[in-house]
Amino acid sequence: MDNAPIGIFDSGIGGLSVLNEIASLLPNENLIYVSDNAHAPYGALSVKEIQERSRILTQWFLEQNCKIVVVACNTATTNAISLLRNTFEIPFVGIEPAIKPAAIHTKTGVVGVLATKGTLASDLFHQTVKTYAGGIDIIEQEGKNLVTMIESGVTDGETMEYLLHEYVKPMLDAKADHLVLGCTHYPFLIPCLQKILPNEVTIVDCSPAVAKQVGRILEKNQLEASKAQKGITLF
Ligand code: DGL
Repeated sequence: MDNAPIGIFDSGIGGLSVLNEIASLLPNENLIYVSDNAHAPYGALSVKEIQERSRILTQWFLEQNCKIVVVACNTATTNAISLLRNTFEIPFVGIEPAIKPAAIHTKTGVVGVLATKGTLASDLFHQTVKTYAGGIDIIEQEGKNLVTMIESGVTDGETMEYLLHEYVKPMLDAKADHLVLGCTHYPFLIPCLQKILPNEVTIVDCSPAVAKQVGRILEKNQLEASKAQKGITLF
């Protein structure tokens, strides 16, 4: 048993989609969430800058006595998680575009991925595509301006619909039947995306899988909290 908190971070509110899943799957855990707004969006930062923010935030989580760090950001995971694992001894759980399940389930052999520029350009993303999506046509699309709009409270409406329509059009034209949400901010766009996408297109969000992985790691390392310790602190 270990009642130390779980540290979770993202550049903004996106990682709250991951926090919600962790909070409902692991209700006894203390959670500390950091929204690194002063440095958002991460998608526009250099690899070095993303790594530096991830390192500084992890250091701070360690000072708060966190037992595990959840990188609730695809951009930070794909660009910095190897460095974090090589630098710190604490366990890390990250999130990256769910290429593998989409590649397994696609019937048309075409999968769309909406993510930040930083994620799409990362070595880890390219490696994942190479490993799990051989023979699958992956249509990548940068979600330009989406994070900034979501951070300012815009998740639906005419402008958002227009923008999303532009972004998914090449995927639909290519007959994609899965749309992978490769940024933790994008689950907030699901209601708007559902208006635009045909019913046959499955939206893939892997936040629930991340929560399960956190649970597995806590169990494996005997780090689970005892009952009635739950608290959520937001920074
Ligand atoms: N929520 C993020 C992600 O999953 C960060 C996006 C950004 O700050 O550009 O990639």
